[in-house]
Amino acid sequence: MKRIDLHSSQGRYPILIGAGLLSSLGPLIRKYCGLPANSKVLIVSNRVVAKHYLGTAKRSFSKIIKNIRHCLLPFGDERDKSEKVLRYLWKQMVKAGLERTSCAVALGGGVVGDVTGFAASTYMRGIRVVQVPTTLLAQVDSAIGGKTAIDLLSAKNIIGSFHQPKLVVSDINTLGTLPIEDFRNSFAEVIKYAVIYDQKLFEIIDAYGEQFFKSLKKEKISRKDFSFLEIIIARSVRVKVDVVELDEFETKGKRMVLNYGHTFAHALESASGYKLPHGKAVAVGMILAAKLARRRGELNVKDEMKQHQLIRKMGLPVSITNGQISRKQVLSFMKRDKKVRQGKLRFVLPRRIGSAVVREGISDEEVNSVLNQILKLK
Ligand SMILES: NC(=O)c1ccc[n+]([C@@H]2O[C@H](COP(=O)([O-])OP(=O)(O)OC[C@H]3O[C@@H](n4cnc5c(N)ncnc54)[C@H](O)[C@@H]3O)[C@@H](O)[C@H]2O)c1
Ligand SMILES: [Zn+2]
Repeated sequence: MKRIDLHSSQGRYPILIGAGLLSSLGPLIRKYCGLPANSKVLIVSNRVVAKHYLGTAKRSFSKIIKNIRHCLLPFGDERDKSEKVLRYLWKQMVKAGLERTSCAVALGGGVVGDVTGFAASTYMRGIRVVQVPTTLLAQVDSAIGGKTAIDLLSAKNIIGSFHQPKLVVSDINTLGTLPIEDFRNSFAEVIKYAVIYDQKLFEIIDAYGEQFFKSLKKEKISRKDFSFLEIIIARSVRVKVDVVELDEFETKGKRMVLNYGHTFAHALESASGYKLPHGKAVAVGMILAAKLARRRGELNVKDEMKQHQLIRKMGLPVSITNGQISRKQVLSFMKRDKKVRQGKLRFVLPRRIGSAVVREGISDEEVNSVLNQILKLK
């Protein structure tokens, strides 16, 4: 097991990463959150995740805390980040009799984590939340850093709060039931961390990533594969923790570096009507951002190619060719984003593998030029 601590304004909390941690969830929460035996705990999950993991999670509390309840979010996808589901969750919290000393446990992917975190931050002006992420994206990204949110009127994450968890428990065994495509798409975020901050992580993925996906495909995951997973998750978490600690509330511009590839990605996702999965959009977004960096003389061709090859090797896209997305739309979504950000289009640009900077004042012409290079669009 690996442990990484995050120091936040709401206190320090451990992020635990390891195989089989779910069966010790109760004792871990007891140990790290200091819950008394008469505490009330509400586990929030969805049907898919509950089928695999709710039983183990609940059993882990036996003899430790008696008052364990659970509730399941209805859709099992992004639709659960809604006002209606939030209201449902609040009601479940009231019905379970949660008090200020109680604890909500989010057992699932980023969707369960975001909505449960937000409900916990507002119920009785804030109760404890423990994040138990069960997707790769949630383990390396959404469960860490305290951002919680729901969507409103098709605006993603528009209502939310900063509410740091008391503990994060990432059981890598839970990733065993994830569809391979989800796995692959989330790898884009791991590559993102490597490029912006951790050259060694880049080398590790480069050396073993392909082999790992071969094992996944054959459904023959070895001990070596698990140890690879544990290492890349822990290194990704380290990057996120370091950046969040520098800029917890995103007021100093430092947390922005985590958005590498995302300015392009969000526009691509919107232009595709959200048919393009987030991870694939991030992969193409990183290709575009690296081209922009090279055009401006910030990145050398060798490192640009290294990133290109790794993204490709991991089975992620390096261009968009299906003709479903028009370049005009991509540009107009980027402009819309720009309006929201007071007229400034900002990009995170890599300087080399393992380091990136935030740049403003990039002209439409420069952006257009890189879009032209790789988007074979209408
Ligand atoms: N708070 C943050 O800082 C932050 C950061 C990044 C993303 N996010 C949010 O995270 C969400 C995406 O999260 P996600 O990618 O985890 O998607 P998700 O939560 O929708 O999960 C993807 C699918 O996998 C299923 N699933 C979850 N765990 C499983 C398992 N172990 N085995 C089998 N199936 C499983 C889920 O039921 C769901 O159908 C988005 O809403 C995004 O906005 C938040
Ligand atoms: Zn992302």
